[in-house]
Amino acid sequence: MKILIVGPGAIGCLLAGYLTKSGQDVWLLDKPNQKRTKLIEAEGIKIEGVNGSHKIKVNITSDIKDIKKIELIIICVKSYDTEAAVKSIKSLISETTYCLTLQNGLGNVEAIAEIAGENNVIGGVTSHGATLVSGGHIKHCGKGETVIGRWQPQGKKQPKQWKIPRRVLEDIAGVLKGAGFTTKVSDKIKDVLWSKLIINVGINALAAITRLNNGLITEYAGTRQILKQSVLEASKIARRKKISLDYSDPVKKVESVCSQTEENISSMLQDILKNKKTEIDYINGAIVREGEDLGIPTPVNSVLTDLVKTIEASYNKQV
Ligand code: PAF
Repeated sequence: MKILIVGPGAIGCLLAGYLTKSGQDVWLLDKPNQKRTKLIEAEGIKIEGVNGSHKIKVNITSDIKDIKKIELIIICVKSYDTEAAVKSIKSLISETTYCLTLQNGLGNVEAIAEIAGENNVIGGVTSHGATLVSGGHIKHCGKGETVIGRWQPQGKKQPKQWKIPRRVLEDIAGVLKGAGFTTKVSDKIKDVLWSKLIINVGINALAAITRLNNGLITEYAGTRQILKQSVLEASKIARRKKISLDYSDPVKKVESVCSQTEENISSMLQDILKNKKTEIDYINGAIVREGEDLGIPTPVNSVLTDLVKTIEASYNKQV
C-alpha cells in the first residue's frame, strides 16, 4: 500500500519505521525547514524498546511534490496542527485516498472531514506508548491495540450503507497488522474515540502538572483523587451524549492504564518538558466545552486546563 505518514513525532516515526520494514511503500512528511528531516533521511529511524532495537531507512520529505498517488494518509501531528497539515496535503487526496487519524483528543476527525471530505476520513486510536528521544529516535515503551473505524458526523445515525467499503478498513487493518500493530475494525468509532479520550483526560494533564510518569500518578492520594474526579466528570458527559464506553468502570480503567504504561512519560508531559504547546484544548479543555454545552459542571477539568495553559504561557518566566 502507498502510505503517507504526516508528522515525524513519536507515533509517526513508530508507524513509518515498522510499516517500511514490513515492505509497504511509505513516505514520511515533515514540516519545511526542520533539521530533523535531513537527519532522518541520512540516519533512518531508530526504534528501541519492547520489540528490540531497529534502525530503518525511510523515505522522508517536506515537499509534497515528491509524493505521488497515495492510498492511505495517516495523520500523526499534534491536534492543534491538524487543519494546517491536512490543508497542506489536500492536493494528494483523491476519491480513493483515505485519511486515518491516530491522534489524541476530540475534534480531529471533524477537522479532517471538513477539508478531505466526510467519505475520506477514518477515525482511530492507538494505545502504543512511544517517546521521542531526539529527531527520528524513539523509545517504544509499550504495545497496545489500534482500533480504526468509519466516521459518522455529529447528529447523523449510523448509515445503512457506509460510503467507505468495509473492505477498505479490513485492508488497512491488514497492513497495520502485517507491520506488527494489533488492529481491530469498529463500527462504533465515536465510542472508541471517547473511551481513549477519557484515558487521556485522567492521565495527561495530571502528569504534565506533577511531572510524574504514568505509574507514579496512582501512588499519591492527591493525584488519585484528581484523576478520579476528572474522569467522573468526563464520563458523565459521555453518558449524557449516549456514548457507550469500552469499559464499565472508567476510574478503574484509567488507573489500570497508568500501571500498564507505568514507565511512560505521557505525551503532554513530554511537551511540557520541551517547553512546547500541549494538546490540553483537545483533551481536558474539550471536556470543559462539552460540559458548558450540556450544562454539566466540570470544575476539576477546568482547573487542570487552566493550570496547563498557565505552564505553557509562562515557560520563559518559571523559576
Ligand atoms: O498521550 C499519552 O501519553 C498516551 O495516550 C497515554 C495512553 C496516556 C499513555 O501515556
